[in-house]
Amino acid sequence: MMERIIEDLKRIYRHRPDRLRHVYGVRDMAVRLGKIHGADLDTLRLAAYLHDITKYEDEAFQRTWALKRVSEETLARFDKPLWHAFSAAAVAKEVYGIDDETVLTAIEHHTVGRPKMNLIEKILFISDYIEPTRLYPACVKAREIAFNDLDHAVNVALEEGIRHYEKVGGKIPDLAYDAHHHYAKRGGHHEQN
Ligand SMILES: [Fe+2]
Ligand SMILES: [Fe+2]
Repeated sequence: MMERIIEDLKRIYRHRPDRLRHVYGVRDMAVRLGKIHGADLDTLRLAAYLHDITKYEDEAFQRTWALKRVSEETLARFDKPLWHAFSAAAVAKEVYGIDDETVLTAIEHHTVGRPKMNLIEKILFISDYIEPTRLYPACVKAREIAFNDLDHAVNVALEEGIRHYEKVGGKIPDLAYDAHHHYAKRGGHHEQN
């Protein structure tokens, strides 16, 4: 299955070498973090390979496939560029036959996170943000933190992500604020200890 997915990725991203590099970067970062934090590496690889697989599909595709995972109402709270997370989870399930909900939810929440993410979700979320081709200072900072304290790194990524969306005037789903609220508290708690 993994080979088939990699072949498909190469074909889908044949005109987007930067996106393929990003996906491999996310995989490598996820595996590094998975080793440190004790997560299943094949689960992480699968989630990393598939997380952006529908990124360049058109709006009609995004909507049709995303609605297999979430309601119209939920989808409406997300900016269209974020719909690929839901459509990718649906494709992972229906096209590649992946039933492991851990993989599917990790794919689904890789854009804005959510409160109380499980270990696989956190690692995919943070790896997407800090993979090696991303060079801006907040990423470098989050990368250093992620090796020691995943929750703290998730908090930094959420904070920066929200700041960025606010700056560009994007629609920010409540889920992003809820996630930030959750991990900001955890970060504060951690620093007191
Ligand atoms: Fe993505
Ligand atoms: Fe990504």
